[in-house]
Amino acid sequence: MSNSTVPQHIGIIMDGNGRWAKKRGLPRNFGHKQGAAVFKKTINWARELGVKCVTFYAFSTENWKRPAEEVNGIMNLLRQYIKDIRAAAREDIRFIFLGDITALPPDITEELMDIQNSTVDNTGFIAGVALNYGGRDEIVRAARLLAQKAVDGEIIPAGITEDAMDKLMYTAQMPPLDLVIRPSGEQRLSNFLIWQAAYAEFVFMDVLWPDFTKKHLEQAIDEYIGRDRRFGGV
Ligand code: FPP
Repeated sequence: MSNSTVPQHIGIIMDGNGRWAKKRGLPRNFGHKQGAAVFKKTINWARELGVKCVTFYAFSTENWKRPAEEVNGIMNLLRQYIKDIRAAAREDIRFIFLGDITALPPDITEELMDIQNSTVDNTGFIAGVALNYGGRDEIVRAARLLAQKAVDGEIIPAGITEDAMDKLMYTAQMPPLDLVIRPSGEQRLSNFLIWQAAYAEFVFMDVLWPDFTKKHLEQAIDEYIGRDRRFGGV
C-alpha cells in the first residue's frame, strides 16, 4: 500500500450494533459496548495504516428517538470511554467532536469540551467523534452564521461561498473527506457528513460493526486505492 494514496480522512458509520446483539440474544446495549471497543481499536489500526484522520458517527440528532434505556446506555459508554480518550490524548491524538455536544448530559459536555481543548495541539492523528450530529443541521448552522455576518454588514451575499461554508463546518481543521465506510449492509449516508462527502468514495461492507477488524479496514482502503477519482474532471 503506497502511503501517498492512502485516504487522509475516513468517515465511519458504526452500524449494526443492535443486530449483532440480537443475533446473540443479548440486549442492544451489549452491541454498543462491543462497538465502542472496536471504535477504540480502529483509531490505532487507522494510524498504523497511515491514515491521518477518522471521523466516527457515534450518535445522530435522530438517535434521541430511541428508548431511554438505550440512549442512557450509550451515554454511560461515553462516560466510560472518556477515560480511554484521555489516555489516547497522551498519544498525540487530537479529538474533535462534531455536533451540538451542549445538548448531551452536562458532565459529558464538560469532559468532551475539556478533551477537545486540551488536545488541540496534538498532530499525530485526528479522531473525530460525531455526537448529537446531523449533516443537515451542520449546513443550516453554517448558513445561519454567514447570514448573521451579512446582517451585521461583515460580508455581502456573494461572500457566501463554498470556501466560507467549509470553514464553518465541524471538519474545518481536518483533511478533506476521502472515504466513507459503512458496515452492516445498509447503503445510505443517514445524514452523516453530507456536505463533506460530495466527492468522497463509498465502501459498503456486509460485516456488522462489532465484528469489524483491521482486515476490513485494509480491505476498504485497498478498494479506495483502486478507485479512479476524477472530481468531475476526465
Ligand atoms: C448504530 O447501530 C450504532 C449507534 C446508533 C450507536 C453507536 C455507538 C457506539 C458504537 C458507542 C459510542 C461510544 C463511543 C465511545 C464513541 P444500530 O444500533 O443502529 O444497529 P442496528 O442497525 O443493528 O440496530
